[in-house]
Amino acid sequence: MPTVRNLKSKLTSLMTIGVMILCCTSQTFGQVPSGYDLWLGYGKIENVELLRQYEQAATSIYFQNNSEILEAAQKELKRGLGSMLDRAVDFTDSFSTANSMVIAKKAGLDKAIMKSVAADLDRIGKEGFVIKSVQLKDKDILVISANEDIGILYGVFRLLRFMQGHKTLSSISLVDAPKIAIRMLNHWDNLDRTVEHGYAGFSLWNWQKLPEYIDRRYIDYARANASIGINAVSLTNVNANALILTPMYLEKVRALAEAFRPYGIKVYLTARFSAPIEIGGLRSADPLNAEVQQWWNDKAEEIYAQIPDFGGFLVKANSEGQPGPQNYGRNHVDGANMMARALQPFDGKVIWRAFVYSEHDADDRAKQAYSEFVPYDGQFMENVLVQTKNGAIDFQPREPFHPMFGAMPNTPLMMEFQITQEYLGFSTHLVFLPKLFEEVLDADTYLKGKGSTVAKVIDGSLHDKKMTGMAGVANIGTDLNWTGHPFAQANWYGFGRLAWDPYLSSETIADEWIRATFSNDPKFVGPVRKMLLTSREAVVNYMNPLGLHHIFDTGHHYGPGPWVSELSRPEWNPTYYHKADEYGIGFDRTPTGSNATEQYAEPLRSMLNDPKTCPEEYLLWFHHLPWDYTLRNGHTLWDGIALKYQEGVDQVQDMRTTWKNMEPYISKAQHEEVWMLLEIQLKEARWWRDACLLYFQTYSKKELPEGVEKPTRTLEYFKSLKFLFAPGIRPRWD
Ligand code: GCU
Repeated sequence: MPTVRNLKSKLTSLMTIGVMILCCTSQTFGQVPSGYDLWLGYGKIENVELLRQYEQAATSIYFQNNSEILEAAQKELKRGLGSMLDRAVDFTDSFSTANSMVIAKKAGLDKAIMKSVAADLDRIGKEGFVIKSVQLKDKDILVISANEDIGILYGVFRLLRFMQGHKTLSSISLVDAPKIAIRMLNHWDNLDRTVEHGYAGFSLWNWQKLPEYIDRRYIDYARANASIGINAVSLTNVNANALILTPMYLEKVRALAEAFRPYGIKVYLTARFSAPIEIGGLRSADPLNAEVQQWWNDKAEEIYAQIPDFGGFLVKANSEGQPGPQNYGRNHVDGANMMARALQPFDGKVIWRAFVYSEHDADDRAKQAYSEFVPYDGQFMENVLVQTKNGAIDFQPREPFHPMFGAMPNTPLMMEFQITQEYLGFSTHLVFLPKLFEEVLDADTYLKGKGSTVAKVIDGSLHDKKMTGMAGVANIGTDLNWTGHPFAQANWYGFGRLAWDPYLSSETIADEWIRATFSNDPKFVGPVRKMLLTSREAVVNYMNPLGLHHIFDTGHHYGPGPWVSELSRPEWNPTYYHKADEYGIGFDRTPTGSNATEQYAEPLRSMLNDPKTCPEEYLLWFHHLPWDYTLRNGHTLWDGIALKYQEGVDQVQDMRTTWKNMEPYISKAQHEEVWMLLEIQLKEARWWRDACLLYFQTYSKKELPEGVEKPTRTLEYFKSLKFLFAPGIRPRWD
């Protein structure tokens, strides 16, 4: 698929040789579905100096290719270099000192080269790589090496990205390996191809045409994942359908697994706990029942006979109505270990989700997962990972980190982020999520003293763990550009990069992504990077400032609904979370309230308990405070909230101004697409501001401070809005 940039450069060369087909070419240009190539567009290198350098490196490439993964790596290099150098690239399979580039695993390296990279190879494990300029007989040779095939694939992608960022190859020395073992996308895709909280079209998995028909998109999806190091995907919704485990579907899953295998990606499935009843004909799914256990053992054997490298099961049990071991008076350990026993002979994993809260538990929802799971520490089998959302409520624009991180030293805790923007403006709002992910990963749990960050829990270094993982709920669908909003691609990209290295900065990620996707022009990169980095704070400001949370309209979570108070379960109502009354607003989670702060270690706990030391971005998460409480900037709480909402709207205005100025640097189509989306974002930011302030004003009974625009609609109007067909919820066909 050609990129807009490629087409533009081809157009330029055609013009210079005087071929007068401009009219027809520009027509085609207008129809290019920009964005399909993601960050793998490999635009032609225009800089003469760089081009000479890259050409030099590509004159004679020795590529040792003897596996399907190496084949994929070679194809990618051919494609990437071919496009960037604008010529066909060939390989040789005989080594000579005349080679300009040498790509081979450790075992296939020439002795002299080996000497220069041996020490590096010793410390990069199975998936790492070395990219190094090595001097051989007074000649510089660019070497990509690794211990395993997959390392070569990752190395090739890294070299290509390096070139996409227009970096110089002279004395290049990159030695890198992933810090997290399972780097995974969780698709919430239903078998009818709807996607729960998906805002980019339908599910990629075309179950009807599988297994025979392998859509080209499966390969491009796998390429994109491998390019950022993602090595695992769970195909189906956590609100699972047992049918996926039937022979008819397993055959289809096998076809997908085969398509992904050359890219180092393992397939996982969501396992519905009641599957033995629904598709197995048993009367129970009790994990201590021998027949049930045998059913899962047989099922595992059946799956591995088809998919020998099957990753394992992702399980949502006894959570939001999903069946689980508690239906039989058993607990999460019983349930997880039963499945773990079935998968263990095949080296499969159970990823057991800790997203639990119960309508029968009157305690603060934010406390329930910790209270339930922490006592199980050390009781899960070795092949079980407990997957925990980044915060204790639910993927809010801002949440304090989940107190479970670090609190289960004897259990591998896997991070679950949400890449799809369920609570962050769907795929119509430009929000750069790596900023959010980074904030969580950098948060200090203090569990082993200062510096015990969440990243160290996740990468296993805090408690010396080898089995580690990070999952992101995917934002991918059948839209031409995969993610709906072209900038939402950056969130897929950024998630992958952080799963590889949770210490990367969001700024580095933004920079890499912009250069690979759009342009290296500093006049574009600088302002757009700044726009990305502020976009997350903007959405917090116009949706949930100062620690407010979960004040979204019901079910679909589209737009504000702070007034919603009549849902059957108390903790599904926004009023449960903001607790606004005539006195003030916020959820008291200190010892005078729910005491959720006791789940955090000292000195963090004390810091959170005191509104004077609690970070203001979490103020109303932990405190119920009077409307005239004085904030650190001297404003009253009411004024502060109102001004934050306004600030969010202003930030979106600024994003529009930035984008307007970017017109000269990209195609008209690319520019217009984002411009139209920013218009929607601005409209919806105002909607959030006006609806929330009008509603909270009924309690504060105070005027809006100066600087805050007056709402143009009434509260009744905002309350009357209904969205029966909001995207991301399952349509009803009746
Ligand atoms: C949220 C989301 C649900 C999802 C759930 C989960 O509550 O709205 O659609 O199933 O999270 O993570 O299990």
